[in-house]
This record gives sequence, C-alpha cells and structure tokens, in this order.
Amino acid sequence: MLGGLERLEYRGYDSAGIAVVTSDPEKLAMAKKAGKLTNLAKVLAESPLPDGTAAIGHTRWATHGGPTDSNAHPHLAAGGRIAIIHNGIIENYHSLRTELMEQGVEFQSETDTEAAGHLLASFVDKGQTLAQAMRSTALRLEGAFTLLAIDAREPHTVVGTRRNSPLVVGLGDGENFLGSDVVAFIEYTRTALELDQDEIVEITPEGVTVTTLTGAVVEREPFEVTWDASAAQKGGFATFMDKEIHDQPAAVADTLRGRLDDHGRLKLDEGTIPEALLAAVDKIIVVACGTAAYAGMVAKYAVEHWTRIPVEVELAHEFRYRDPILTARTLVVAMSQSGETMDTIMAIRHAKQQGSPVAAIVNVQGSTIAREADAVLYTRAGPEIAVASTKAFLAQISAAYLLGIYLAELRGNKFADEIASLLRDLDEMPSKIQRVLDTAEPLRDLARDMASEKTVLFLGRHVGYPVALEGALKLKELAYIHAEGFAAGELKHGPIALIEEGQPVFIVLPSPRGREVLHSKVISNIQEVRARGARTVVIAEEGDEAAAQFADHLVTVPQTPTLLMPLVTVVPLQIFAHELATAKGYDVDQPRNLAKSVTVE
Ligand code: M6R
Repeated sequence: MLGGLERLEYRGYDSAGIAVVTSDPEKLAMAKKAGKLTNLAKVLAESPLPDGTAAIGHTRWATHGGPTDSNAHPHLAAGGRIAIIHNGIIENYHSLRTELMEQGVEFQSETDTEAAGHLLASFVDKGQTLAQAMRSTALRLEGAFTLLAIDAREPHTVVGTRRNSPLVVGLGDGENFLGSDVVAFIEYTRTALELDQDEIVEITPEGVTVTTLTGAVVEREPFEVTWDASAAQKGGFATFMDKEIHDQPAAVADTLRGRLDDHGRLKLDEGTIPEALLAAVDKIIVVACGTAAYAGMVAKYAVEHWTRIPVEVELAHEFRYRDPILTARTLVVAMSQSGETMDTIMAIRHAKQQGSPVAAIVNVQGSTIAREADAVLYTRAGPEIAVASTKAFLAQISAAYLLGIYLAELRGNKFADEIASLLRDLDEMPSKIQRVLDTAEPLRDLARDMASEKTVLFLGRHVGYPVALEGALKLKELAYIHAEGFAAGELKHGPIALIEEGQPVFIVLPSPRGREVLHSKVISNIQEVRARGARTVVIAEEGDEAAAQFADHLVTVPQTPTLLMPLVTVVPLQIFAHELATAKGYDVDQPRNLAKSVTVE
C-alpha cells in the first residue's frame, strides 16, 4: 500500500493515512499522520498495521481543514467500523454536517469528507450493503468527489464512486485495485478499467462490479496501460524531476513517432473529429493551465503560422466565465498532462455545451479529459511524477506541432515538400534536446552561484516569450524565488524599472537565421538591461556571434528553426531551477503548497 501511495504522493502530500480490514468485524485498523508520506511510514515502522483482507490509503492536498493528523484521511464512521477516503470538494458538506450533527453524530475533523463517511454509515445502519450505501450517499452529494470506503463487516470489499474526480480500476489476478491514477497499481497490473461519472464500483479479490446510480450493471472493456512500472521510478536519479528532464528526448521522440500516415494525415489515438469539420474550422482556442497553457502559447505561434487559422490561448479557469464566442467551427483544444485538471475539464464541458468540437492533448490514458473530448492525441511522455512539469511540456508542444502540420496539410496551407521538411526538422529535435542535456554542467554551477538571489527575470520574444514565462514559473514553484517572465519588448513599458546593478536577467534569444529583425530586437533588449546593470544569462543558438558579446553567461543550444526552438531553449531553464532549488535544500519533487493534479476549481 505504501508503494502505491508513494507513486500517488505527487497528487498531494499534506498528510497520509491507511485503513485496513482485519479479522475484527467491529473495528478497522488505521494509521494516519500529517506531513509527507515518510511521516506515516515512520509511524508504521514503529507500530505496523496488522495484515488484512482489504485496505484503503490516501495522500491529501488540504481543502477543508488544515493539514493535521485529525484532518488526514481515512475518516472513520460507525464507531470505527467504516472508513472513507476522498478527493475533491463536497460542496453541500455544511448542510450535511448540520443534519448529521442534529442526529447526534460527533465529528472528529474539519473536513468535508467526514460528512460523507457518516452519511454512508447511516445508510449501512439502515441495512444497505456498502455498495448500496455508496450509491445512496452519492445521490445526496454535490460537488466533485472520488470516494472509497471499507466496512469491517464486508471484509473482502472496497467500494468507490466518482463525480468530476478520477478513479481507475486495476484488474489483477486474484486481487483488484482502485486508484486515482494507473501508477497506483502498475506494479501489479497493467489491465485497467475506466469509470464514468456517477458510477459505483465494488471490488473483491474475485471480481469487479460497476453499476450506475440507479443500480444498472455496466459492462465495459478493459484497456492496457502502455506505461511500465519502471517508468514511475527514479531510475538512478536523485529526483523524479531530474529523471524526467532527462526523459525529454525520449518523450518527444515517442510523441512524434508513427503519428502521420504516408499522406501526412494525423492518426488520432481516440475518437474522431470529421475532416470536413476540421477543414472548416475558423478559430482554435487552446484551454489549459500553468505550464500546459505556456505550451498552448507556443502552439499559437506555430499553428497560426502554418495554417493561418486564428488561435487563442485561454487559461481554462478564465474561459467559461467570460462568455467566450464559440461556434461549431471553433475547435477547442484542451492541453493537460494529467487530464484531470478541474479548470480544464470545466472549460471543455462548457465548449461542448456550446456545440464546439473538442480535441485533447493529454498524457494520462483513461483520464477525464481524454474520455470527454471528441478526439484525443496522447502525449507519450510516460508518467510525470515530479510536481513541476517538464517532459509533459515538451511532449505537449510536440503534439501541438503535429496537430498544426496536420491542419496545414488538410487545408492545403502547405505544399507536400514543406510538410516533409517540417517533419524532418521535428525528427531532429530529440537528439538536439539530448545535446542540451549533455552540455548542461556550467548551468548547474551558475544555479548554485545564484542560490541567494531574491529576484530573477526572464525575457523572450515570439516563441521565446512563453519559454520565459515557463522559466519564471519553474523558479517560483521550485526555489520559492520571485521570478517574472516578460515579453522582451514590454520591458520598456514599465518592468525595466526593476533593473538595478547585478539583477539576474535570463534572455531567450531567437535564431538569427531567417529571423534577423526579431533577433536584433532582442539583442537591443539585452543591451537595454545591461546598460542598467543587469547580469545577463543569454540562451542562444550555437554560432550566434552577437549573443556572446552581450552575455555575462552564455548558454548555447543547437541550431533550430525558430518555431521549434522552445523544445531546446526551455531545457536549460528547467535545469537551472532544479539545481538552484536543490542548492537551497528544497524538495524539488514536492514543492510546498502544490499538488500535481489540481482537481478542484
Ligand atoms: O495536468 P495539467 O497539465 O492539466 O496541469 C496544469 C498545471 O497545473 C501544471 O502544468 C502546473 O502549472 C505545473 N505544476 C507547472 O510545473
């Protein structure tokens, strides 16, 4: 159980707990502890839980109630006979809590989850089985939830349900599993079953039963998980993030591999959007959050240039609240590593309600966004465990390039030889990324040297702008340093006032080849900050003579066509943030206050 929780810890690490059904029909065994999973592991090392017949475990990202021992999951009900764990937010928990307290229930925590536990127990008390009680409970709940429960009197059963939060079933041999993500059980089985909204699942060692809220039995085909268990291990690296940074050449190569047929037609992984509809699309809106939204910004530059279709990029949490203009000819593209980001899920639901087709670029198979989109192009980055997104970012950009090339081909925006040339350029990217990784050592020294800096600025133009934003985000989330990314041309409109003697400024310089004007504008921006005392770190193409003159520190990347440059220019910024955070002694895989999948709005 601890191994599975360890692989899921990226989802939340405020506290953790496990409950086990033992031979006692009146009481479950349980241990839970605030803090990271290692705290729980210490408790268990001192007083191990007995072996049991069924168990549930949880790692938490606090919503209702702080990260304390008592707020940690599981939560007990029915005098310790029933235990429940929960992801998501139960929006009507307050009225449920009041109702239950009026019936004499005493609460032990400040969580919304505990109300669901006592409600479930009240149905079991009325003679319902655990599965029936879970159905009755789900019918009373509002909001987003994955719930799992065990009852000491049903010693071989775990029941679960989901609404707007993920839950996947792992089908083993004489054992079955439930997890928020397939990584929870890929050590034991790679055969998995998706669950739809509002389904109830009951697992025993012998079988799995899925039913709807009305009790109708659901038959569904299992799918094979393409990841293997070793992909969710550190593989000799000190951190998952470092391992995932080094996975990037493979992540990009795998995402690109075998994707276009002989005619340049894109092979989608799941679903379809009719070609006639794609040919008629008059606007694309990318909806995403955080790093995935920066991948969307890169996509905008490339897709607009190749297809001449206007592309908007919208933070998913802003999208549906501004009454966006959506028609049947608006292609909405959701980008998400996890496929479970609630803001992005809500954005695509809104788009579908308005009649717009939705394509998803997602990393996790069977995730909610993958299931709800009309068509899916999977990034093949493998499991990304570190909270900071790295290889998923590169894979998302690569998948977006494929989509852009496909649309350009379909709509006749590019000749066959131009498409072939773009594909050749893309094919060269994994080895170029590898070269950046192989030459990163001086950057690690620089990061250690800058460990005491209070502010770091990042500048870029064109596709270098989202790269600058991503460089700043990485530093903020890992090293807790104030960092800002700016469009380099914007500096003179205000932010240049921040520059003082010694201020570190990273500049992402576009290729001078074929983009002389763009290049020379950024060179001017470097001079402007240098003239005011900035210490410049310039990320430039190999052989860029001008860059060397204006850089206090020069980081070179292989020569690359401008639109593809983010795949190489972001890598030094990832390594810099990783190294600086490590030098400050921070846990780069699990930065404070964050969770990998943000499954609440
Ligand atoms: O799973 P998603 O790609 O939808 O996640 C979106 C963001 O929450 C995510 O990219 C976040 O910004 C990363 N922690 C950044 O490193």
